[in-house]
Amino acid sequence: MSGLYSDDILDGIARANDIVEVVSGYFPMKRAGKDYVALCPFHAEKTPSFTVSPAKQIFKCFGCGRGGGVFTFVMAKENVTFPEAVRIMAERARIDLPDRAGAEKQMGARRQVRDVMAWATKRFVAALQHPKAGAEARAYLERRGITPATIEAFQIGFAPDSWDALLRAAQRDAMPLELLESAGLVVRRDDGNGYYDRFRGRVMFPILDALNRPIAFGGRILGDGEPKYLNSPETVLFHKGEALYGLPQARDAFEAERRVIVVEGYFDVVMPWQEGVRNVVATLGTALTDEHVRALRRYADEVVLVFDSDLAGQRAADRGMELFIAGDVRIMVTVVPAGKDPCDFCKEAGGEAFKAHVAKAEDAFKYKWNLVQASLEEATSPAAQRRALEAMLSSVLKAPALAQEDLRLQRDLILGHMSKVLGISEETLRAEFRRLRRSAGRSAAGTETGANLPEPAVRGRRWIKERELLTALVCRPSRLDTVAEALPPDRVEAPEFRRLYEAILANPSRRDGDIESIVLRMEEAELSSLAVALFERGEAVSACRDPADTGPEPIARMLDDALAVLKQLDGEDELATRSRAARGGGNSLGAYQEARLKRPSGFAGPGARRREPDGLRQDGAAPG
Ligand code: UTP
Ligand code: MN
Repeated sequence: MSGLYSDDILDGIARANDIVEVVSGYFPMKRAGKDYVALCPFHAEKTPSFTVSPAKQIFKCFGCGRGGGVFTFVMAKENVTFPEAVRIMAERARIDLPDRAGAEKQMGARRQVRDVMAWATKRFVAALQHPKAGAEARAYLERRGITPATIEAFQIGFAPDSWDALLRAAQRDAMPLELLESAGLVVRRDDGNGYYDRFRGRVMFPILDALNRPIAFGGRILGDGEPKYLNSPETVLFHKGEALYGLPQARDAFEAERRVIVVEGYFDVVMPWQEGVRNVVATLGTALTDEHVRALRRYADEVVLVFDSDLAGQRAADRGMELFIAGDVRIMVTVVPAGKDPCDFCKEAGGEAFKAHVAKAEDAFKYKWNLVQASLEEATSPAAQRRALEAMLSSVLKAPALAQEDLRLQRDLILGHMSKVLGISEETLRAEFRRLRRSAGRSAAGTETGANLPEPAVRGRRWIKERELLTALVCRPSRLDTVAEALPPDRVEAPEFRRLYEAILANPSRRDGDIESIVLRMEEAELSSLAVALFERGEAVSACRDPADTGPEPIARMLDDALAVLKQLDGEDELATRSRAARGGGNSLGAYQEARLKRPSGFAGPGARRREPDGLRQDGAAPG
């Protein structure tokens, strides 16, 4: 905290210094979806992992872990103290008064783009239904076997073959053209004079979010031509790597089946839907990402990837294994027979045949295993089997998620799953995996020393719950006061979390603050990095929120759970300490269980270690 500057002044200076502009003043960045990326200025790297979020006004390097707000950045870059960084930014902005207008404008932008997308969808739908203007497109859809009911259900439309059909409609309806541009509907002319329609002479598939609101379009040319599909560019609403086509139409079916079918194309969603297979969505010309899986996990326990070709199927199997390792969702893979895609297949063989084919999909691990075995001659010889297993485990070993801290848990989960799917004992898999990892570690660490890569320390349950608690707090500082009553900072054991907790508590705008206001006031680089890292975790959890879910939101749930578990762990600590004392320092499980049986109603007692547990005794409820 800095006593030097008032809160209003700090906020005002921060608002006047957009982090993207400030960072761009030091080195160029590239746009990547909603964020900006660059080579990290704080560590040596060859591929950019330094990321700046214009929406959240924070930066984060996924390589070295540094993160924070605009002041943190300037402190590190200029090697100055916090107050100096604030002063530099004040000078840069030449104002010292709060200016809230900018922030509000940004909030409003999403809503405006939503409105213009809804408007455009109506225009395209009307154009398709227009007796003359839409005739050719309607005939095209009819040739492809799409019925009027399906057209309506997916709000399929048409963009006439004209440079200014949408532009003229916008002028007529008094829609600001800059807004159409931010929505990706029109493109600015090269000479800078005015705009032209992006989508011309195309059947328009609106890409809807889970709440049925259009966020982008995919436009298919009538017949042949390049490109076959034209998609909306990334906008404030549309991020290709997260969006799924057909989501609202499929949602009810997901809930009934707990299984999602993921296909490659628009028509591969629409045709199965028409044929009665409704739990189908498509990615938008990209492979399935972690974000997709996070979004789908709330509807389904199983994701079936259905591909058009063997080659795509092989890639999907590898990706499916990685996604399983990272996300613990079961991924199945299948390829539509005879080089057809799901659209053709459904049209010719019907929905039931498609369902039957999907039911034969194989677990991604099994699919890969079959491929590996097939690629080996004499796959039945013991040596070949061993090579197959090695190939299989090496690709598991390469999965990025395994490099993270929960290594042991993840590995057990994967080996257990593989053992079931492949019919190989877990012991065999485990021994082979260890052997491979040792040799991988040796080659990575250099053969000179022969040192293995250190396995990240496996953290205890308490550490994990403390991390959850702090994650929830950086995401929802509004709960801070009640949490502080239930669990004062000195009860948090991990020093890094305790310090972060104290820093958040000391933040004057803590109750209505956001991540920007939290990191803005942090004078220690490590703390702001930690805050940003936890915030990212929390965002990922929030993203899993089902809009139809009326229960407590995920972060609130995480917070309550973490508090409850920490409270329980405190109780067990007491018991263990007490039973050790009773047995003269022994630590046998028997003594522990005995103590458990004699468990007293309160937590405090002669064996209490260092804490005054009143706050916990009341189930975390704040008195009064
Ligand atoms: P396909 O070429 O398989 O298209 O591309 P499709 O859906 O089967 O369409 P039809 O049946 O030929 O009309 C699969 C997906 O890849 C993306 C689109 O999302 C498409 O649905 N794609 C393809 C593009 O984005 N641009 C292209 O030019 C082609
Ligand atoms: Mn296709």
